[in-house]
Amino acid sequence: MPRILDRNAFGIWSFIAKRAFKVEFERPKSTDQASKAIRETLTEHEVGLYMHIPFCTGTCLFCPYTRFPISKHKDEKLIRKYVDALLSEIKSYSLITKGLEFKVTDIHAGGGTPSLLNGKFWKAISDYLAEYLRAEAKIAIEANPEDLKDEAYVFDLLDSGIGEVSLGVQSFAPKTLKSLGRRHSSEDCFRSIENLRNAGCKYINIDLMYMVPGQSLQEWVEDLEIASEQDVDEITCYPTLITPYCIGYELLKSGRIEQPDNKTLKSMIYAAEDLLSSKGFQPIEIYGYSRKEGWKYVTVNLEMEGPLLGLGCAAEGFTGGYEYHNTSFVQEYIRALRDGELPIAGARLVNSLGRAIRYAVCRIFICRGLDKLEFKQKFGRDFHDLVGKTGFGRMLGLLKLFGYLKEDERKIELTKRGLFTAHKICWAFVLNVPCRIAEEYRKAPWPSKVTVP
Ligand SMILES: C[S@@+](CC[C@H](N)C(=O)[O-])C[C@H]1O[C@@H](n2cnc3c(N)ncnc32)[C@H](O)[C@@H]1O
Ligand code: SF4
Repeated sequence: MPRILDRNAFGIWSFIAKRAFKVEFERPKSTDQASKAIRETLTEHEVGLYMHIPFCTGTCLFCPYTRFPISKHKDEKLIRKYVDALLSEIKSYSLITKGLEFKVTDIHAGGGTPSLLNGKFWKAISDYLAEYLRAEAKIAIEANPEDLKDEAYVFDLLDSGIGEVSLGVQSFAPKTLKSLGRRHSSEDCFRSIENLRNAGCKYINIDLMYMVPGQSLQEWVEDLEIASEQDVDEITCYPTLITPYCIGYELLKSGRIEQPDNKTLKSMIYAAEDLLSSKGFQPIEIYGYSRKEGWKYVTVNLEMEGPLLGLGCAAEGFTGGYEYHNTSFVQEYIRALRDGELPIAGARLVNSLGRAIRYAVCRIFICRGLDKLEFKQKFGRDFHDLVGKTGFGRMLGLLKLFGYLKEDERKIELTKRGLFTAHKICWAFVLNVPCRIAEEYRKAPWPSKVTVP
């Protein structure tokens, strides 16, 4: 059997993820119903905002995200229409949240490729965010090196409301970049980092990928070495996860290409942990390492914990009590907003226990530790009172027995021994829940019901 890091690859953890996180999304009956649910469940004072930019100039072999290949110049009209729709959506949220007291503290654009939008588009978006949602924070974007190798373009972005950048380096090795189907070179990455610093970008994260078909442990270590020598604030390391809808799936399934084995997966995880820690990068998530104290690039946390307003085609939002998914069809997204409707294709209510478990999974298995006092302040109940008697609570007890977690008065923390298990839990969840949601919503623009996994 060829090795594929798909949703069944993590043994017991794949099995548990499929059962424990079974969820059902329903299409809201009307825009009014969805607006009311968002308004009533948005009760916290600090809120994050995510915008999805679903365009790329090509398709990487194992990409699991909702995005459509376009030509930056030929499809400028489509980009303009898309940004207009996004601006209308920002305005809609201003109406929905009228009178509510909250502050937008984090603004993040992911994709796809947000760096495909030039400074002019980002200026319009950032002006709208300030005017309609009082959101003054700088925008963090995901960027591709082929866009940022041009210095003037980078200066323009940073003059237009962009403050933080997560650069999709993936690897410095030409062979690995080719295996992934990337459209940039390692020189483009070095130039992009230099351009970002010259333009005054304060926070730079770079993404790296391992478990790439054909990649050896030695090649991964070399990528980590080169990454650690760059002038960047954070390094995130992702294993190459495989969904059945990525274009490289058949190549893997037929055995024409193969991912490294399970033992190498473990070695690659601990190589990142040891090497990056020894170079002054502090572990902040199981896959993220930062050398700027008190700062990290906003990624999945808000999606898991909420509250996060999700805007754009295929965006996910979670107010804390209401989780929703926008339509994954670009033309339908644009049409809905032109017709004055919210583009929400499916949604579900999440109760307080459900949210508490999501929060705990995120804190313990992604962020490496849960502060019990913070938990009590957020949920109004003692952690063990609320979660202890659930299946999840019992599982934590077992992991403590194995030495994968440790607990004192204040915290439940992941141990170094537990790191591999935390990765298995995290990736089994990602492949069985968010990736499955994305897969289902790729099939039709407005399905009446979606059940995952
Ligand atoms: C949302 S993507 C978008 C960023 C940008 N478009 C790019 O690819 O550089 C964020 C990151 O996900 C990671 N990624 C891409 N394909 C992946 C896969 N199959 N499994 C896990 N992570 C992946 C890459 O490191 C990428 O930089
Ligand atoms: S990995 Fe990034 S650049 Fe590649 S197709 Fe996916 S979103 Fe686009």
